[in-house]
Amino acid sequence: MLPGIQYRLLRTISPGEPNICTGEFYEGKSKLEIMLGHEFLGTIPGKTVIDFGCGGGSEVVGLARLGANRVIGIDIREDLLQLARQRAHAAGLSKICHFATSTNELAHVVVSIDAFEHFGDPLAVLHTIDTLLYPRGEVIASFGPTWYHPRGGHLFSVFPWAHLLFSEKALIRWRSDFKTDGATRFSEVAGGLNQMTIRRFKNLIQDSPFKLASLELVPIRKLRPLHNRWTCEFTTAFVRCRLVKRI
Ligand SMILES: C[S@@+](CC[C@H](N)C(=O)[O-])C[C@H]1O[C@@H](n2cnc3c(N)ncnc32)[C@H](O)[C@@H]1O
Repeated sequence: MLPGIQYRLLRTISPGEPNICTGEFYEGKSKLEIMLGHEFLGTIPGKTVIDFGCGGGSEVVGLARLGANRVIGIDIREDLLQLARQRAHAAGLSKICHFATSTNELAHVVVSIDAFEHFGDPLAVLHTIDTLLYPRGEVIASFGPTWYHPRGGHLFSVFPWAHLLFSEKALIRWRSDFKTDGATRFSEVAGGLNQMTIRRFKNLIQDSPFKLASLELVPIRKLRPLHNRWTCEFTTAFVRCRLVKRI
């Protein structure tokens, strides 16, 4: 179908910015607990933690509340870092929480929440993280939806798998009706979108300084009966993994 027709169809389906709500995951639980796992949270007290791709800093503040000694939030968006600083200040935790676009400090743990599908160069991020960890440090990364998830296009998933049915050109044109960052490709949207799949992530880890100590593909609740090794690209709600340095 011609991009112009696709664009008009998209405008008809969603004339403005769609309200993509993922909040149902967190009902009654903290995002940190869901994304990083209950056992991991108990290991935080006394540690120096880096949150890579921290966004507005809610999880940095959460980690500080859990007893981390120091938490450093890293993000490429200065507007979000500013918001994060205000959030930490309001929580009375600005002595523990720090925010920057980069750091040289070493951490016991690097967490990354909902960010690996956004990094422009995820392999470079893994190399950076390697330099920020003590030798026995670990990475807990949790992210999704990945690209083949029904909502894997994030904002572009105006209905399930819409981001796979429409062309990038039509989707970007539709988005530019209500977003002003001038993006011309998925990878250029504010905060990034790298079309990460589960398979690509596994390959990335193989090429990185890390190995997978654990990998969980948490299924979409309603698709759990269909979730298996062949369908997982389409039925995984989010990926949770623990990475350790290769020795
Ligand atoms: C979906 S947000 C998640 C924010 C936060 N972790 C959360 O769970 O609410 C992804 C974040 O990754 C950040 N990001 C993208 N590329 C990055 C990079 N190369 N380095 C650091 N942060 C990056 C984006 O700016 C964005 O704030």
